[in-house]
Amino acid sequence: MSALKIVKMGNPVLRKTAKPVVFPLDSKTEDLISRMAETLMHEEGAGLAAPQVGDSLRIVVALLGGAPHILLNPVLTMEGEDMEWGLEGCLSIPGLRGVVPRFQRISWTAQNMAGEPVSGTAEGFSARLLQHEVDHLDGILYPDRMPDLRLLTHVDEIENFLPGEDPGSHEGEQEHE
Ligand code: NI
Repeated sequence: MSALKIVKMGNPVLRKTAKPVVFPLDSKTEDLISRMAETLMHEEGAGLAAPQVGDSLRIVVALLGGAPHILLNPVLTMEGEDMEWGLEGCLSIPGLRGVVPRFQRISWTAQNMAGEPVSGTAEGFSARLLQHEVDHLDGILYPDRMPDLRLLTHVDEIENFLPGEDPGSHEGEQEHE
C-alpha cells in the first residue's frame, strides 16, 4: 500500500459526475478506499474525494470530530438557511485559498463498507468539509462556489489578505481539504 497521487484542477476527472459505489465492494474498490485513507493522512488533509485520486466514484474519506470516516454514496441535506463564510483550500488546487459561503448545518446519509446505511449531522467546519467533498463528487470545485473571485488568495499572501488576523484562527480555515 502506498499513498495515491492527487490530481490537480484542470484534470477532466475533477469535472465529472462520479458514479455510485455498488455493493458488495470488489477488492479493487476496497483497496482504493484504504489507499485514500492513507493518502489523506500522508497529505495531512481533512478530507479527500475519490475523483481527487483519479477515480470517478462516490467515495469520501473525511475527518469528522478528529476521526476518519468513510462515506460511500453520501447525500447531504441542508438544515436551515444559515450560511457561513470561511476560508477553504483544496489538495487539487495547491497554494490557493478562497472565501466560500457554505451552509452552517447539514445532515448526511451514506453507506459504510458493508453497504449499511449510516447517517449524522454536522455543523461549522465539519459541515463545510462535507459540502466541499460532496461537491467533488459532482464535478464542482470550491472556486465555483465563490460569489467573488477577489476573495481568492495565494497562501504566501494570506497575512496581507487577512490583515490583523491570525490566519490559523480563522473560522473554517483548513490547510487542505
Ligand atoms: Ni478539495
